[in-house]
Amino acid sequence: MIKKWHHNNFTIDSYQEIPSTNDLMFELSSNNQINDNQVIVAKSQTNGHGRYGREWVSKEGNLYFSLLIKPENKQFLTPLLSFISCVALSKSLENLVSSEIKISYKWPNDLLINNKKVAGILLKNKDNDFIIIGIGVNITSNPQNTEFEATNLEEQNIKNLKAEKILTEFLNNFENLYQNYQNFGFAPIRNLWLKKAFKLNEEIKVNLADQKLTGLFKNLDNTGNLILKCDNEEVKTISSAQIF
Ligand code: BTN
Repeated sequence: MIKKWHHNNFTIDSYQEIPSTNDLMFELSSNNQINDNQVIVAKSQTNGHGRYGREWVSKEGNLYFSLLIKPENKQFLTPLLSFISCVALSKSLENLVSSEIKISYKWPNDLLINNKKVAGILLKNKDNDFIIIGIGVNITSNPQNTEFEATNLEEQNIKNLKAEKILTEFLNNFENLYQNYQNFGFAPIRNLWLKKAFKLNEEIKVNLADQKLTGLFKNLDNTGNLILKCDNEEVKTISSAQIF
């Protein structure tokens, strides 16, 4: 570890290089060695991973971190945390950047700038005992030839944003939004998310594990599912898929 520090209610352990902030968090929390509101951040990762077991290329220069949440309510719906995190991250970038940036949210948990992916979120939970929110933000580099085109902040002319600054700003916004969720439920966050939803009311392709669908992205329901109006007028509720 290079340093241990605090920001608001969070304890942050910073590392130079580890295999994956998510994996280390999972290991430590499974052994009960870690508390709520713990953050692990690394300058680079040698085994970073994304959704569907994909590699998350983790060269130095970008932000890679995981945050541990122990929800009081065991009925807590893990997927909602990705919408809370997405909105918190976008508010952070908007607060830190003086110019207009065109941010949108790609269901369920990607952050886009000018329709290209700039950040991804990976949630992992264990029997709702704890939830790990893993976030990667492309600041100076991004992988090439990805299924959905990627970008980084510098390429989008957002220069000189330090990883640590984005992290602390994220933690401020996350704390507020999570509190808001606990007080008022998902509806306010859902509304914020829908305002910037990528391809809302437009035609999308939905790749399910065993089936490909096309249709109109009509809505997000109150548990974070995507509501799709298929070409044959049938309305489907999608809980897990990739969209294009
Ligand atoms: C995705 O879009 O597929 C999710 C990417 C999540 C990447 C982050 S980087 C920090 C944390 N550690 C990991 O190994 N993955 C997440």
